[in-house]
Amino acid sequence: MAPGRRGLPSQHTWHSRATAVLFSVLSVKSARALRELRRKWLRAAGLGTCAALAALLLWGILGADDGVTEVLAHRGEVLPGRFIEVPCSEDYDSHRRFEGCSPTKCGRGVTDAVISRDEARRIRSIAEKGLSLGGSDGGASILDLHSGALSVGKHFVNLYRYFGDKIENIFSEEDFQLDVRQKVQLAVAQAFGVSASSLHLTKPTFFSRINSTEARTAHDEYWHAHVDKVTYGSFDYTSLLYLSDYLDDFGGGRFVFVEEGANTTVEPRAGRVSFFTSGSENLHRVEKVHWGTRYAITIAFTCNPDLGIADPALT
Ligand SMILES: *[C@@H]1O[C@H](CO)[C@@H](O)[C@H](O)[C@H]1NC(C)=O
Ligand SMILES: *[C@@H]1O[C@H](CO)[C@@H](O)[C@H](O)[C@H]1NC(C)=O
Repeated sequence: MAPGRRGLPSQHTWHSRATAVLFSVLSVKSARALRELRRKWLRAAGLGTCAALAALLLWGILGADDGVTEVLAHRGEVLPGRFIEVPCSEDYDSHRRFEGCSPTKCGRGVTDAVISRDEARRIRSIAEKGLSLGGSDGGASILDLHSGALSVGKHFVNLYRYFGDKIENIFSEEDFQLDVRQKVQLAVAQAFGVSASSLHLTKPTFFSRINSTEARTAHDEYWHAHVDKVTYGSFDYTSLLYLSDYLDDFGGGRFVFVEEGANTTVEPRAGRVSFFTSGSENLHRVEKVHWGTRYAITIAFTCNPDLGIADPALT
């Protein structure tokens, strides 16, 4: 009985000791495993943080502001033409309609085949010269080609009146022999199935220069989404000619069609023309420019001959 009694407890003791040892081995092992795990986790977290920071930095540099999901035109592509039709908004109903001109087919298009890079370079030098005469103290400067209004500081001044004959020394005759307006007008008319002669240049048609300097006035805040037909009643078709290259000359500053489902961007490229019907079917914005300088020219067309303007000329 006694050995049995002794045996049992001893067996029990051994067992429990073994269990205890096993457990302590296990706990040492699990503590080690836990430490190992924690180290691994910390390393992963560290790497994750680094990756997140790098991504954030890249995001900042490349200027991807927000949920951009589609690219209509990449900066590296040379597009003969790309067109996306969208249903027309009702914005045109509240304006006088012009048969064969007022938009019945709406949409947006991009082409790199209308204006050469060489032409774009020459136009850009006009823009640089014109805008060098002044410039807003915020990041966005505008040179209105019709009125000659140039944003200087918080004011708009009339370039022609303000600078007088100095202008003649800045712009050469050759500068104005570019028939850019006509080429763009033909491309727009063709895309929307209207006659080019029914389109009239309207104001404002302007050069813009944007850099990363903070806006000083509300006028400088170019990045808000807007509808051209609402902002400028006369617009029926808006076109933009880019004069600098996205990511070569500047970062940020992509053009974005803002939509509920998916935003669509156009990456600027010198010589690239983008155009669209001006109603709220084409709500859009320009991303903030993060570095460098972005030059473009906005060329607007109206169907109403009364709202047309003559070709810009500085003489
Ligand atoms: C489109 O852009 C706007 C602001 O520009 C943003 O509020 C919206 O969330 C974006 N939509 C998508 C689907 O990413
Ligand atoms: C941006 O342009 C303005 C003139 O419009 C100039 O004063 C400013 O220094 C420029 N900023 C940068 C970062 O180049």
